[in-house]
Amino acid sequence: MNKSMIAPSLLASDFANLQQEIEMVNQSDADWFHLDVMDGVFVPNISFGMPVVQAIAKYAKKPLDTHLMIVDPDRYIKTFADLGVHNLSVHYEACPHLHRTLQAIKAEGMKAGVAINPHTSVKLLEDTIQDIDLVIVMSVNPGFGGQSFIENTYQKVADLKELILKKNAATLIEIDGGVNANNAKKLLDAGADVLVAGSFVFKSDNPTETIKKLKAETA
Ligand code: DX5
Ligand code: ZN
Repeated sequence: MNKSMIAPSLLASDFANLQQEIEMVNQSDADWFHLDVMDGVFVPNISFGMPVVQAIAKYAKKPLDTHLMIVDPDRYIKTFADLGVHNLSVHYEACPHLHRTLQAIKAEGMKAGVAINPHTSVKLLEDTIQDIDLVIVMSVNPGFGGQSFIENTYQKVADLKELILKKNAATLIEIDGGVNANNAKKLLDAGADVLVAGSFVFKSDNPTETIKKLKAETA
C-alpha cells in the first residue's frame, strides 16, 4: 500500500505564534500545510485571507494545500498562484462552471482540487473526475475546526475510490474534518491518500509526536 500524506491544518494553530507553528510543521513528518480560507458567506465563519497566506508562504518549506471556502473563487485563482500555492481546492457547491474553474487553476500551474460538503454525493463528480487532481471529502460541515467526524465518510471514500478506478483517473482523496488516531487507519483502508488534521495536531501536548503517530498509521 502506498504511503499516505498528512496535512496539518493551521486553522487550529496559535496565530500569535504562527512562525513557530510553521517551523514545527517544517521539522515534522507532515507532507503539506493545509490552509483554510473562509469568507463568512460560503461558510458561517471568517478565517484568514491573502496577507496571511503570503506570510505563511514566506516560512513554509512544504507545499501549500489551500482550501477555499468562498463564493466565486474564480476571482482569486491568479492571486493564490502568485502567492506560491501548490494545490488550490474550490468547493463543488460554489462553482456553477466547475470544469472551467478547474482548467483556470491548472492554467496557473497549480493542482486543481474540489471539496465536497457532507451532503454532496461523489456521483456528481463522475463527469469531471479525470480533470480533478484532488478531491477533498469533507467529514464535517465546513467552517470550523474541532467538530466531530461524520461516520458516513467511510462509505463516501469507498465510493469515490471506485469512481476514480472506474474512470482510470489519477485523483487523490483527501479527508478534512475530525480526523484523529481513531479514524485515520480506517480512512486509509477505505481509499484515502491525504489526511488533514487540525485540532488533533495543534491542541495536542506534543504536535510533532502527534504528526509522527498519524504518519505511522499511514505507513
Ligand atoms: C473545516 C476546515 C478544516 C479544519 C479541520 O472547515 O476545512 O480543514 O481546519 O479541523 P479539525 O481537524 O479540527 O476538524
Ligand atoms: Zn480544510
